[in-house]
Amino acid sequence: MSCRVVVLLSGRGSNFQAIVEAALPIEIVAVISNRPQAAGLAFAREHGLKTVALDHTVHTEREAFDAQLADEIERHQPDLVVLAGYMRILSPAFIKRFEGRLLNIHPSLLPMFPGLKTHERALAEGVKIHGCTVHFVTAQLDHGPIVIQAAVPVRADDTTITLATRVLAQEHQIYPQAIRWFAEGKLVNNGGCVNLKGDLTSQSVLSTGA
Ligand code: GRF
Repeated sequence: MSCRVVVLLSGRGSNFQAIVEAALPIEIVAVISNRPQAAGLAFAREHGLKTVALDHTVHTEREAFDAQLADEIERHQPDLVVLAGYMRILSPAFIKRFEGRLLNIHPSLLPMFPGLKTHERALAEGVKIHGCTVHFVTAQLDHGPIVIQAAVPVRADDTTITLATRVLAQEHQIYPQAIRWFAEGKLVNNGGCVNLKGDLTSQSVLSTGA
């Protein structure tokens, strides 16, 4: 039986697109967005996938919106929920409902630079290596058991755009990989450290960067 996946997104959906194009052993059973106009939803529709738009602006309370969102997700009986550029903080009650089957991608080498504007902050700090992380979501923002990370070099002439582009190319590699591992049942959580069954090296990707 293939792994049933619900995708949540808010915007352009390039990670979601990479996941679709990777032809993974999964069934994307729904794509849900808090923004009805998200480009990612249009891509999903073009690919014949079930889409749901739940406009968060009609709810004043985060908890009420998240409860509705969680009910919608559960209707699709997912084995895995994938946050692919879902730009809203999730309430603790939501996270608890899906803990252990909720993945996120973040554009930094966590635990460095949680939150927003990661590329700007990396450049401002003068770090020489930057990257991206796929992790299980826990109640602490952008913190949770790490599945895979990709590192890229930071060039002296980088702008936030060139750096973001280099990181994004790696995001498109590691997110499908992480989902494949989950679907194949290869991820083992050893007290907060996620390891890959029988594989000691594949969870770190060192890119030479373009
Ligand atoms: C990505 O940079 C991802 O790491 C972050 O949000 C962005 C989403 O981009 N969580 P896209 O919508 O997948 O193109």
